[in-house]
Amino acid sequence: MQMKHTRGYAVLAILVATAVWSGCSPKKVEPMKTVAIEDGTIDPAEWGKVYPLQYKLWRQTGEPTPAGKSKYKKGYDVGEDRRDKLDEYPFLALLYNGWGFGSEYREPRGHFFMVQDQLEVDPGRVKAGGSCLTCKTPYAPILEKQMGKAYFSTPYKEVLAKLPKDQQTLGVACIDCHDNRGMALKISRGFTLGKALKKIGADEEKLTAQEKRTLVCAQCHVSYMITKDKEMHSTDVVFPWQGSKVGNISIENIIAEIKSSPANLEWTQSVTGFKLGFIRHPEYELFSNNSPHWANGVSCADCHMPTVTRDGQKVSDHRIMSPLKNDLIACAACHTETSQVLRDKIFAIQDQTMIVYLKAGYATATDAKLFEIANKVEASGKKIDKALYAQAREQYEQAFYRLIFIGAENSNGFHNPTETMRVLNDAAKYAASADSQLRKLLAQAGEKVPEKIDLELSKYTNNRGVNKIMFRPEHEIKSPEVK
Ligand code: HEC
Ligand code: HEC
Ligand code: HEC
Ligand code: HEC
Repeated sequence: MQMKHTRGYAVLAILVATAVWSGCSPKKVEPMKTVAIEDGTIDPAEWGKVYPLQYKLWRQTGEPTPAGKSKYKKGYDVGEDRRDKLDEYPFLALLYNGWGFGSEYREPRGHFFMVQDQLEVDPGRVKAGGSCLTCKTPYAPILEKQMGKAYFSTPYKEVLAKLPKDQQTLGVACIDCHDNRGMALKISRGFTLGKALKKIGADEEKLTAQEKRTLVCAQCHVSYMITKDKEMHSTDVVFPWQGSKVGNISIENIIAEIKSSPANLEWTQSVTGFKLGFIRHPEYELFSNNSPHWANGVSCADCHMPTVTRDGQKVSDHRIMSPLKNDLIACAACHTETSQVLRDKIFAIQDQTMIVYLKAGYATATDAKLFEIANKVEASGKKIDKALYAQAREQYEQAFYRLIFIGAENSNGFHNPTETMRVLNDAAKYAASADSQLRKLLAQAGEKVPEKIDLELSKYTNNRGVNKIMFRPEHEIKSPEVK
């Protein structure tokens, strides 16, 4: 839906003192003559010969972003160190101990770096094979077609080596979002998003242009499972959207799908010994679950690709980044509040999120340590109540998946404040109930546990992965004071 707000709406908005409107419809860039790009052209430099302005902006995603503007996302800011979520949120190092994400889990940075960053990250992170390239290289759809199922399990570097040498580190390119004939927006990943859209009842043929301004991003900014066979070889990349609908992909359904098959369990958590699934950057899922902006037809591109003027021409800003780092110019297409006011609103939402996220995070990590104690008690030959243990495990997993859903989502709550708080509050409740069940179980087994469990965090935050990465305490995010 395009937003058109009459003056009547504006008055109403002022009265309820929420959003303040200018007569708003996100300004459209000027219609332009489009030139067909030859079929099969992937190299953006070729597209850039016809569309130099978009190409130049796209290339700028390789530059560091302005510092001091975003409170929580310092992915690659001028003069700042790159942040690792395991330093920012040390409980994650405990929870992810046992696989690649527990070694290195950097905050995202510009699109230009997506493949480069895989080459630099701890090798444990790309163990799944070619699957890892699915939301990185524009060649993924071709590789999947050519290699079939082998694409998913073949070692990462072997798959990468099949690409032209000068294109191996190329990240998201024009062809990922555009039809080469006429430049309309297009979904290029039928083998992942295409299939998932069918699951939620969307007809790819009938998508509107505005819907595509969100769905081109949903090719990658979604959660997925890398399914496994019995030998733990990767077999597919699947979005856990079964049972959900457009506008309501719920965490409840995502958890149910992960837990529905052992093929969806990708790793073993070392502290508890549990085989678990994983949740990755669910920006589309959280945003589209009836957030205020989604409900009003706002798209990802409306906020992340505002209209800018270059060489006297109005174009979509292809330097995609945090709107805060872009001085919130995108918001001004619809909101009349000053950028200072909007910035404070974003920070207020993110601070609230952070307070509950940290509480739920430490509560879930404490559960994990209680399981570790219970496992030791059992190994020492003492009897434990198996039924109670199973109940506690169920509560713990419910807490764990909710926690990592919000933790992997990259807006710190902004994309959907109400849903974020609902999910985190549920996580905290599940974690508390696992805690009391575990303490009961341990008491019955005659094991005394202290009120405050030692999380032994330094064991997990230090010497991470092959590069023996050490904890950077200066990057830890502390709970903001409630204002
Ligand atoms: C082909 C997959 C893909 C598509 C399509 C895609 N992204 Fe991304 N995006 C990524 C990856 C991967 C990263 C992290 C890159 C890194 O850290 O190396 C990222 C990072 C980002 C960032 C962080 C940038 C920064 O400076 O820190 C933003 C914002 C973003 N994407 C928004 C979008 C929006 C909006 C769209 C749709 C218009 C979109 N992305 C389409 C894969 C994709
Ligand atoms: C992550 C997705 C994405 C990538 C990658 C991407 N674009 Fe776009 N592009 C968009 C969106 C979204 C629009 C807005 C289209 C609309 O609203 O109809 C757009 C619009 C355009 C337009 C129309 C004029 C304008 O500026 O709005 C041109 C031309 C264009 N892109 C060229 C390119 C070129 C060239 C590349 C590669 C260097 C590229 N795009 C890469 C998403 C992308
Ligand atoms: C109403 C505006 C708005 C819409 C719509 C929106 N975002 Fe965002 N997005 C934001 C804001 C604000 C942030 C927080 C940035 C920060 O904290 O620096 C953010 C953060 C992000 C980040 C992390 C940026 C970083 O620097 O690490 C990504 C990735 C992202 N959004 C992708 C998306 C995708 C994909 C969609 C659509 C599914 C979307 N956004 C829809 C406003 C929006
Ligand atoms: C395409 C139009 C559009 C864009 C762009 C847009 N918004 Fe909104 N925004 C809306 C609409 C519509 C609502 C819902 C208003 C309501 O329900 O009262 C809304 C609601 C909000 C709200 C919740 C109500 C309030 O004022 O507390 C906040 C906060 C907000 N927007 C911030 C932002 C920020 C920050 C950006 C830029 C990153 C942004 N918006 C970009 C249209 C837009």
